[in-house]
Amino acid sequence: MKVLLVNGSPHPSGNTFTALNEIARTLQQEGIETEIFNLGTRPVRGCTACGNCKTKNPGRCIFDDDVCNSLSAKCASADAFVFGSPVFYGQPNGALMAVLQRILYSNGQNLQYKPVANVAVCRRGGATAAFQAMNMMFQMMNMPVVSSQYWNIAYGRQQGETAQDIEGMQTMRTLAYNMSWMLKKLHHDGTSDLPKSEPWAPMHFIR
Ligand SMILES: Cc1cc2nc3c(=O)[nH]c(=O)nc-3n(C[C@H](O)[C@H](O)[C@H](O)COP(=O)(O)O)c2cc1C
Repeated sequence: MKVLLVNGSPHPSGNTFTALNEIARTLQQEGIETEIFNLGTRPVRGCTACGNCKTKNPGRCIFDDDVCNSLSAKCASADAFVFGSPVFYGQPNGALMAVLQRILYSNGQNLQYKPVANVAVCRRGGATAAFQAMNMMFQMMNMPVVSSQYWNIAYGRQQGETAQDIEGMQTMRTLAYNMSWMLKKLHHDGTSDLPKSEPWAPMHFIR
């Protein structure tokens, strides 16, 4: 079983990485493979709502000039995810949201039913709003959201300061234990049974 941890921060060794690394380290102790993927600093497009991923180019975003489709393929082969974001103006950082919206819209079928969690890291405020904004996406994608002993938030400003947030770091480890437990329960019988699902019943007055 493999958990993919995506660091939305432009800083590959910053506070978001520090929080994700605590989760990855704990998952590894639990016998689970991990990969931390840094989104980096290269430009990421927003979704243009062109619809090509539903028609001409199913499962892929039409734009191949950024990280979207390669990260999307990584997501398709992972068993669970943790998306980590620094808090920017009380929200997740723009690049992470842009790529997540495109991946979920173009390739959501390969992420659904896989456990997911998100982590928000800030200097002082806005972490719960950012945390909630990310959860809004997962909760409408049939993705079981893994919880912890508290909301998955941690504090820090200078590089690595988050390591001093003792309660934040414990929250990350508890999240990892809970994700490990959920993954083992889901996969223990070796089957890939999924819950029942119905054909989509759209609102009759808004298409
Ligand atoms: C553009 C920008 C906006 C920010 N907005 C907030 C904010 O709203 N609240 C806050 O507490 N920190 C804010 N910060 C600080 C970062 O969230 C904080 O330094 C975080 O630890 C950075 O994580 P990183 O090291 O992984 O990049 C902001 C930083 C930047 C660059």
